[in-house]
Amino acid sequence: MEKLWGGRFTEETDTLVYNFNASISFDKRFYEQDIRGSIAHVTMLAAVEILTIEERDEIIEGLKGILSDINSGKLVIDDTAEDIHSFIEGTLTERIGSVGKKLHTGRSRNDQVALDMKLYIRDEIKNMQALVKELLTTIHALMKEHIQTYMPGFTHLQKAQPLTLAHHLGAYMEMFKRDYSRLCDIHERMNYCPLGSGALAGTTYPLDRELTAKLLDFYGPTLNSMDGVSDRDYLIEFLSAMSLIMMHLSRFSEEIIIWNTNEYQFVEISDTYSTGSSIMPQKKNPDIAELIRGKVGRVYGALNSLLVTMKGLPLAYNKDMQEDKELSFDAVDTTKGCLKLFTGMLKSIKFNKDRMYKSATGGYTNATDAADYLVGKGMPFRDAHRVIGEITVYCIEKKCAIDDLELSEFKKFSDMFEEDIYEAISLDTCVRKRLTIGAPGPEAMKKVIEINEDYLKKI
Ligand code: ARG
Repeated sequence: MEKLWGGRFTEETDTLVYNFNASISFDKRFYEQDIRGSIAHVTMLAAVEILTIEERDEIIEGLKGILSDINSGKLVIDDTAEDIHSFIEGTLTERIGSVGKKLHTGRSRNDQVALDMKLYIRDEIKNMQALVKELLTTIHALMKEHIQTYMPGFTHLQKAQPLTLAHHLGAYMEMFKRDYSRLCDIHERMNYCPLGSGALAGTTYPLDRELTAKLLDFYGPTLNSMDGVSDRDYLIEFLSAMSLIMMHLSRFSEEIIIWNTNEYQFVEISDTYSTGSSIMPQKKNPDIAELIRGKVGRVYGALNSLLVTMKGLPLAYNKDMQEDKELSFDAVDTTKGCLKLFTGMLKSIKFNKDRMYKSATGGYTNATDAADYLVGKGMPFRDAHRVIGEITVYCIEKKCAIDDLELSEFKKFSDMFEEDIYEAISLDTCVRKRLTIGAPGPEAMKKVIEINEDYLKKI
């Protein structure tokens, strides 16, 4: 395919150089966005009378034909063109003749690629939001089901205080809600149209940039043409938002891996989301959760890579910026894939309520509540802490739980203990009494679930 810039050159490009420079192998991914942008561009060119209505219609019809032929597989994007922009413009001219050569009037590939990438990322933000919403809906349904499913909560991976599965899942609900809102924020900041920035200094054509922006659903045109062609902030923000999504998926995966071990048996991942071992016949491994945890590195890597690529670039466009694509595409594919797989896996998981309950009753998870009991009887908290610490040592030696002690044994440590201690430190009381908003008590959980229910209706 003929080069867009051949006129200035008398010698052929070295093949290695051509291949090194070309981006068609990866930027063909946004052919639809490139065509959408071109249709808006020629519509605007005709509105300001740079093109005639006939020329506009011929070009638009040609572009639409190319789009449907690529979609149907009739037209294959071959890697001989330098990039997707050259391929579409070249194909257009082959098909409709020299009027196709007017498409690029008042435009540079610099503002064209800036537009294409923005359109593509804007579309992917929408796709990502839909996937995060599906995950939120799945977690929400599980929360509703497990308001009374008791389990131990951990700090330092040591049993700490009892809580519920709904409460534990609720922590992830909040993380993914923040992820969703981060995606909205990025959209708000990035949604300005760079087309019309030209190579770097705008153009001398009387372009109507407001019209182009409106046709493409942007809030308006970007306000500085140098920034318009060289801004990649929104991509870095998107990579950062994806990194956080991946971090949350990875932390959740790690917990599922732990809960799925023989030692815990809090959950069982379904056969459809597990794999076996080639040598150990008994094995059923949580590979999907592990892979999601493992793939985080790729997305963090992409973020870091683009930050480094951009850090020393002078204004305006530099070819380094072409490096923004492959890594962003990989990060988008990885994050979307992990969101889908994780949601499917979560839907398939069986929670072993009995194991969780039993585990919550062990490990002295009611020690804080026992101390609070003494505080309720008038003992200063620090003294109560010491008394219960001593009782814990006594119980460890006796190999029993705090609530297994006789009242007479309690009284050896403090005469403030009465018969009501058993009720005060029962697992049920420990959870039920935590009723400030954000705590695991079922009444508090119900309020949060109601708030989330409303939230899910609005997004
Ligand atoms: N493939 C290029 C990129 O992704 C398109 C812009 C080319 N512009 C240029 N001045 N060579 O950045």
